[in-house]
Amino acid sequence: MLRRLSPVQPDSFEFSPANLEWAQAQMTKYPEGRQQSAIIPVLWRAQEQEGWLSRPAIEYCASLLGMPYIRALEVATFYFMFQLQPVGSVANIQICGTTTCMICGAEALAEVCKRKIAPTPHTVSADGKFSWEEVECLGACSNAPMAQIGKDFYEDLTPEKLEQLIDAMSAGQVPLPGPQNGRFSSEPLGGLTSLTEVTGHDLNASATLARDIGETLKKIDGTEVPILTKWLRPVQEPVETKAPANDPQPSANASPDATGVTKQEAQAASAAQPASKAEPEAAKEIEKKTQPDSAADGAAKSEGGDKE
Ligand code: FES
Repeated sequence: MLRRLSPVQPDSFEFSPANLEWAQAQMTKYPEGRQQSAIIPVLWRAQEQEGWLSRPAIEYCASLLGMPYIRALEVATFYFMFQLQPVGSVANIQICGTTTCMICGAEALAEVCKRKIAPTPHTVSADGKFSWEEVECLGACSNAPMAQIGKDFYEDLTPEKLEQLIDAMSAGQVPLPGPQNGRFSSEPLGGLTSLTEVTGHDLNASATLARDIGETLKKIDGTEVPILTKWLRPVQEPVETKAPANDPQPSANASPDATGVTKQEAQAASAAQPASKAEPEAAKEIEKKTQPDSAADGAAKSEGGDKE
């Protein structure tokens, strides 16, 4: 897909004082003379300020970082997170159109966008609130089909669900991001199909995890809403495993290891053995004592060899 600058451009661009201060702080992260390394965050900030990246904005960022315009333009046109056309004031809907999402119904989602927003992508709706585009895989393939709206992923979409999302956003609401079919993440919709047998220990670990995740999800506007579907079964009491009543209770030291040898047996065996380090030391001593003779023998043999 060709990514070109919009034919309609503003006359100029300038960072707000707060954004300029932020951009200058980003530039200090890089060594002197390498400020152009900050091009992606600086372009992103410009887009956040205006909603999209105009030609004056790209040129302004390039000047700020002391780099040629063309280098900044290369970056802005390469990544589709940069919007080169004006976008809707409420949301730009990015429909993933790559293989998994396409097989699972992305084309039907695009039809909704064509009908409710604009017949062609990168076009702002008549009320100015929405725009849409098709993008490459966004990495949520296990929840296909999906769309990124703003900074959120809306997954497991259907055409009806997408219509409801657009209507809700148009009314000023912020729908709950994530899977829209009741899943918490990408677990099987019909319940667990593996790891269904858990021991008492694993069950405790799972319960801790469930508590860590919490019962609510934080939305982009900071409010919290309940999780639609708990992803774990209700917490059960851990199963206690008891030793048979007539077995003697072994002490910690007496418990056998994987080879069936207890620590006490291993200690007794090592005491009966000569220290393993002592063996090489003794061998060195013997070698030292025998070396002069051996050297003399060698010399004598050598002399004898010469004489011969
Ligand atoms: S194919 Fe759509 S998220 Fe990967």
